[in-house]
Amino acid sequence: MEYHVARLSLAPEGKKSIEWAQREMPVLEGIRNNWFRERPLEGVRLSACLHVTAETAVLMITLRDGGCEVRLCASNPLSTQDEVAASLVEDYGIPVFAVRGEDRDTYYRHIAQALSFTPHLTMDDGADLVSYLHQKGQDMIPHVIGGTEETTTGVIRLKSMAGSGKLNYPIVAVNDAKTKHLFDNRYGTGQSTWEGILRATHTLLAGKKVVVAGYGWCGRGIALRARGLGARVCVTEIDPVKGLEALMDGNEVKTMEEAASWGEVFITATGNISVIRREHFLAMNDGVILANAGHFNVEIDIEELEKMSANLREVRPMVAEYTLRDGKRVFLLGEGRLVNLACAEGHPPMVMDMSFANQALAARYLHEKGDTLAKDVYPVPEELDREVAKVKLATMKASIDTLTPRQEKYLASWEEGT
Ligand code: ADE
Repeated sequence: MEYHVARLSLAPEGKKSIEWAQREMPVLEGIRNNWFRERPLEGVRLSACLHVTAETAVLMITLRDGGCEVRLCASNPLSTQDEVAASLVEDYGIPVFAVRGEDRDTYYRHIAQALSFTPHLTMDDGADLVSYLHQKGQDMIPHVIGGTEETTTGVIRLKSMAGSGKLNYPIVAVNDAKTKHLFDNRYGTGQSTWEGILRATHTLLAGKKVVVAGYGWCGRGIALRARGLGARVCVTEIDPVKGLEALMDGNEVKTMEEAASWGEVFITATGNISVIRREHFLAMNDGVILANAGHFNVEIDIEELEKMSANLREVRPMVAEYTLRDGKRVFLLGEGRLVNLACAEGHPPMVMDMSFANQALAARYLHEKGDTLAKDVYPVPEELDREVAKVKLATMKASIDTLTPRQEKYLASWEEGT
């Protein structure tokens, strides 16, 4: 079997970590049990470009047990859990091409290797694999029925491709399922971003001045958890409605220019480029901590920070100290890459359970219906989204009410009023 992982001897540790994640992924486990009998993806080849974590491993095993032949590469050079990659190869027979800390060339070589068996389906997190396939693997595209996309940034890129007529097969935007972004982006990122920052820095959050750039679902979650731990939170936004929402949720709202000299911990979650840049570094106080929760490492202008610095050293694992020419220190976490995956283990399995249940069901949907779809970006079908929520609620031992006939009639009527 072809693969490239850091060390196969790490497999026993990885297997324990995968089994630990499995305990808290009951929705996916239910799908796996059904698929083991039904084999709905028999004969399907799927190339996945996802963060190589224990939770992703549980998804890969589910797909494999559904009859699918999968190949996995990393969707970020710094998010791979090497022990998990080793176990997928050694214990589960799944080819993985991922090594934590891989350079750019290796990252793209691994994408090429994950694609090299000419997939029928693609599964992406950030759209690097789809972008690569469209630029360098055109000959394979006629064989591809469809793909899924995990994250906001990827969906934006793919919609841009579709808008300019460049997308050559249908994509299901898993990110846009309610059971994905309302939970994974908000509660997953909200918790795991802080886990990454706190593990890396060992700082106390109570009383800290925290600046959150962007009030999308990720920013909302990060700010929510910071307030819960006693931080004073300021949000920066470019959208007046989101800015207003941030204010009424109890945050301060400032421009980044104003926030730069106020904040002590800065977290970017905008999906945009150079959100924290030269003029902001210049205005910041000594000892500020910078972290990024967005998909790509472009939100903090690291190149500019390097140019402005007289000295750079690692002061703790994943903590780089930049000393500016005036002697001021700026601490950058995880090379400005996704802090939750670079400095911690990403979102907990409990929430990835829903995201990846959507991924598995969307893959099956594309296998069965992909040839009826146009070359466009589609939502997860509403009934799949609701099914994931229903099963998750049941596994969390919660029950909800059903409408009485009188209530149904009332909701359908317009005659009854005051
Ligand atoms: N994205 C965020 N957290 C993740 C995790 N634990 N596994 C895979 N992708 C993720």
